[in-house]
Amino acid sequence: MDIEAIYLEIEADIQNVNSREALELFRLKYLGRKGAVAELTSIIPTLSKEERAAFGQKVNSLKNKLSEVVGEKEKLLNVQPETKIKVSCDLGMPGIAQELGQLHPLTQVLDEICAIFNRMGFSVVEGPEIETEYNNFTGLNIPLEHPSREAFDTFYLKDYAKLLLRSHTSPVQVRAMKERKPPLAIVVPGRVYRPDAVDASHSFMFHQVEGFLVDENIRFSDLKGVLGVFAKAVFGKDIKMRFRPHFFPFTEPSAEVDISCIICKGQGCSVCGKKGWLEILGAGLIHPQVFKQVGIDPKKYTGFAFGMGVERIAMLKYGINDIRLFFENDLRFLKQF
Ligand code: DAH
Repeated sequence: MDIEAIYLEIEADIQNVNSREALELFRLKYLGRKGAVAELTSIIPTLSKEERAAFGQKVNSLKNKLSEVVGEKEKLLNVQPETKIKVSCDLGMPGIAQELGQLHPLTQVLDEICAIFNRMGFSVVEGPEIETEYNNFTGLNIPLEHPSREAFDTFYLKDYAKLLLRSHTSPVQVRAMKERKPPLAIVVPGRVYRPDAVDASHSFMFHQVEGFLVDENIRFSDLKGVLGVFAKAVFGKDIKMRFRPHFFPFTEPSAEVDISCIICKGQGCSVCGKKGWLEILGAGLIHPQVFKQVGIDPKKYTGFAFGMGVERIAMLKYGINDIRLFFENDLRFLKQF
């Protein structure tokens, strides 16, 4: 066996050792029980006395060399794992979660309300938040002396006496009826503004959904039917509805509409003030004067209209007791919907 050749082989082999497993194979090949060194050692007894000492020494040197090479490689492989961690990623580590956003609860309720009316054939129309005094009041048969026209009930634009922030979504009735011909079935979602002091049930800005339907032979019973479908869709099929006579300048007759209290089911509790009923909207048959203002013949056409506060519907639906929660942007609240 040529010892010099073995040295060369070792040099070549050790270059290719890049893992602990490979190093173990290397060690076995040269230093194992059936390895090169063992084989060389087994030759020694067969040699003549003179040869034995010199050969034995060579084998020893080879053994030492191998131990040295293996030791060095071991050191190298031991530090490598650490440097590896530094440069590569730890696949077992939890990732950075992407927070998914969601629609604001008011947007969800607004969408739900519009979807219910969509299913009954109503289309969605929007109007501007800056409105003319005419559309917000006059066109809706609200007289000049009506208290809602006072500056403490409506935000007027300072340098434009005839412009204001709409105080309800009803002015879109005027806009849509002027632009389109009956039959009309429209819902109007949007923001409205009133100079109210902010408290648990008031906000200077809130949302309404207006609805109206104009055609020949529209009767109060049509209004009751449509609103009945709506109330059951939002609050459940067991909900009851009642119409109380009321006054609005733009409808005649007019009514305030209540649903049976969703908390006590009509028994009377603190939420409904022991009445068993909760007011949810105003409604009525469109006043002939409104039709005249927009150029629709009140002898040929009749129609109904209604308007509701979205915050109120959302608060009842989810049992929320403070309107300010909707506008504070507190994620602990918003994430619940
Ligand atoms: N505009 C009314 C308000 O803001 C709500 C309303 C009542 C709208 C009766 C209507 C209606 O269309 O018929 O208080």
